[in-house]
Amino acid sequence: MKKIILSMTAVLMACAIEVHAKNNVEAPCLKFDPSAGEERVLTMPTGEQVRYTAYERLYFVTNVEDSAFQFMNVYVPQGSTQRSPILLRTYVGGYMASAAGQPQAGDASGRALQEGMVVAIPGSRGRNSTIIATKTDKKAGVKKGQKVYTGRAPSAILDLKAAIRYLRHFDNIMLGDAEKIITDGTSAGGAMSSLMGATGNHPDYEPLLRAMGAASERDDVLASVCYCPITDLDHADMAYEWLYNGTTNRQQGNEQVLAISNELKEQFPAYLESLNLRTPSGTQLTADNYLSYIKSELIRSAQLAKNAGADIPDSIGFTFSDEASFGAPPINGGMRQSPAGRVPIGGERLTPTMLHPGGKKRAGDYIVDLDMDKYLNYVVSTQPLKTAPAFDTKGVAAQTPSGENEEFGDRNGSSVNFTEFGSLKASTYLSDEVKHNVRLMNPMYYIDDKATSVAPHWYIRHGARDRDTAFPVPINLALKLQNAGKDVNFLLAWNRPHSGDYALDELFKWIKEIIKD
Ligand code: DHB
Repeated sequence: MKKIILSMTAVLMACAIEVHAKNNVEAPCLKFDPSAGEERVLTMPTGEQVRYTAYERLYFVTNVEDSAFQFMNVYVPQGSTQRSPILLRTYVGGYMASAAGQPQAGDASGRALQEGMVVAIPGSRGRNSTIIATKTDKKAGVKKGQKVYTGRAPSAILDLKAAIRYLRHFDNIMLGDAEKIITDGTSAGGAMSSLMGATGNHPDYEPLLRAMGAASERDDVLASVCYCPITDLDHADMAYEWLYNGTTNRQQGNEQVLAISNELKEQFPAYLESLNLRTPSGTQLTADNYLSYIKSELIRSAQLAKNAGADIPDSIGFTFSDEASFGAPPINGGMRQSPAGRVPIGGERLTPTMLHPGGKKRAGDYIVDLDMDKYLNYVVSTQPLKTAPAFDTKGVAAQTPSGENEEFGDRNGSSVNFTEFGSLKASTYLSDEVKHNVRLMNPMYYIDDKATSVAPHWYIRHGARDRDTAFPVPINLALKLQNAGKDVNFLLAWNRPHSGDYALDELFKWIKEIIKD
């Protein structure tokens, strides 16, 4: 794509929108000065030194409400061009505010710089960000001097969208190609990344972005990388109980929690049915075959890890092929050791004499089955389950509010129920405003919406022992995207807990493939 370099005068005068222009008051402008960068060096774990130019405190809205968070840092590595892709890394965690960060040698931001990609790290408001009101706003019920929560839903996604618009606004004068933005985040940040990918240019966000003074630009992206996205919050509770209700953690835990779990798990099949999902091989998913699909995804994950040399224990539920011909080859030759002596690699079956000492069957190369009860109990043994409901907790059986209850609260710092189930149990009112915010924070509502430009490429990972949200949440997201014709690379990453930016060689190999012209 050919770009035109604007003159410096044009740069500094490039105003986002005019809505804040009052009579004879000049409209505030978004600013970017390509000559104002600072040269820096990042030392990678390999010792390699990556040289780059840092542009910091780039405010991406003209109507800044929270000056601690509504700006972005952009890092341009030496050798990058106007055609270089841009990695937009959000560090949102726990739905909390996230300050614009600097590239880290150990995660995807540093690696992206090393790979010659421009890196954008926007700050964003979150459920805990506050300011002191400088004037009384009767309409908003806010008095001068009062603490105001700036980041309740949907503020974070609005800030991130504004950052994307800023990158487009200055695309001509900033290195990197704003048509090649790849978003990346983990957990609540993974949810934000999925929202950036799934809600591009949707009119639902437009008036809010306009009021903030975001640039009048598109905010769709090329790709979204989502590690363990804590998303689909209005259905995450039912998915959680549907999956984990049978674990000993629930069955032998608090009786009140189990009673809630029993009710919630019953709601999942109807939701699943409403999604009308098909597996990549075309099978319609129902609550009857869904557990088998999860099982096949876990077997695929463990098999990949086994092929790469990981030791997969059968104690956590796996069954292996007992074909000796499937046995792993020896390290140093064409024979392999068995209790029966050195035997040629061939098609022979395992015999009782070929059992390991202690009578344990030798594991073949192929995983053929997984006992899901055993496996789910194993997952839960690595970290106890959340309570039930896992997300919309407030006031349900007198429980305390979760972070998500705060996320949907108001500017006075309230926390609220955000699901029908939660509000029913807690005897609270689920307002239309909260319902609308829940929608704005859920990518699942936008993927099939014709008014959205959904990112064409997706990389979604959820740890195979991550219990922060249940497997159906990332699986449903991946399948919905795939069913909508998007390119989706999905994996329940073997033995990973709740975490992100891992297996970076694999991630960047994928990124290189999708940005091929
Ligand atoms: C995160 C983790 C959670 O378990 C949750 O409910 C919300 C957010 C996080 O790590 O961002």
